[in-house]
Amino acid sequence: MCYQCGSATRRSFARFLAAGAGLTVLAACSPKATPAAPSSSAVTPAASPSPVASTASAAPTADAAPVGQSPETQSPTPSPSAALARQFSLDNPASQWVIVNKHRPLAPADYAPADLVRPAVAISASGEAGLLNSTTAAAAEAMFAAAARDGVAMVLASGYRSYSTQVTTYNGYVAARGQADADTASARPGHSEHQTGWAFDIGDGGGACSFQPCFADQPAAVWAKANANRFGFVVRYPWMLHPITGYYYEPWHLRFVGVEAATDMAKRGIGTLEEYFGLEAAPGYS
Ligand code: DAL
Ligand code: ZN
Repeated sequence: MCYQCGSATRRSFARFLAAGAGLTVLAACSPKATPAAPSSSAVTPAASPSPVASTASAAPTADAAPVGQSPETQSPTPSPSAALARQFSLDNPASQWVIVNKHRPLAPADYAPADLVRPAVAISASGEAGLLNSTTAAAAEAMFAAAARDGVAMVLASGYRSYSTQVTTYNGYVAARGQADADTASARPGHSEHQTGWAFDIGDGGGACSFQPCFADQPAAVWAKANANRFGFVVRYPWMLHPITGYYYEPWHLRFVGVEAATDMAKRGIGTLEEYFGLEAAPGYS
C-alpha cells in the first residue's frame, strides 16, 4: 500500500521541479552536522551548539505541499475527544503530553531537556541528533528491539535538536524553498518537537527512502505505523492531516506520549494530538 504516492504527491513533485527548486532539498528532520554527542547517560546539552544546515536529498521530501491543498487554505473542524484524565501538562515542555505546534511555541523558546541520553539503539544521526530525553530513549530501546524481533531494521535517524540547530535547519529550508513551503516541512525555531526530546525520526539503515515519500512503504514505517503505539509513540504528522498539524505526512516522525494515550488514540482512530486533546487546529502560525 502506498500512503504518499498518490496524485497529490506527484503533482507536488512536478510543481517542485517546475518551480526551479532544483534537485537539492533540505531534510527538515535530518540535520547532518551537529555538536559532539555525549556517549552515554544523562547529559546537559551545550549552551551554544553550532550546527550546520542539512543538505542534499535527490527528491522532495514527503512534506512537499500538494497543489491546491495548502494547509493555510483548509480549516477542518477538530473533533475534541474525551482524552484520558489530564495526567500531564500540555504546556510544560518536560511533560510527555506537551503540545507543540504552530500555535503553541515552546516556552521558553530555547528550552533544552535536562535528561538527554543516547539510547542503546542503532543510530545513523551524529552529535546531538543521537540524543533523546531519558523516557523517550527507554521507550525507543524497547520499540527498536521489538521491531528487530519481527525482522524489521530500524535506526534512529534524527532525535534531539537544539533551538540553534532548528534555526539553521529552518533557515536552510527557507533559502531553498521559500518561507511558505518551508513552513510545511520544517518547524520554526522554538516550535519543533525535536527540541523537547520527545520526538525522533526513524530510518531503516538503507537510506534510499530516508525522509522521502517512499519511506511510507518501507518495512520500518509500516511496522511503526502499526506497532509504535504499543511503545507509547504516535506518528505525529499523518497523511492528509496537515490542515490540523500544519505539516505534510512524515511517516518517519514519531512522538512519545506514553502507552496509555498512544494506544487509546489508535483504538479510537484519532490521528492527531490536537484532536485527541481537544485543541484547535494549527495549520499556520498565528
Ligand atoms: N519536520 C518537523 C515538523 C520539525 O521540523 O520539527
Ligand atoms: Zn521529525
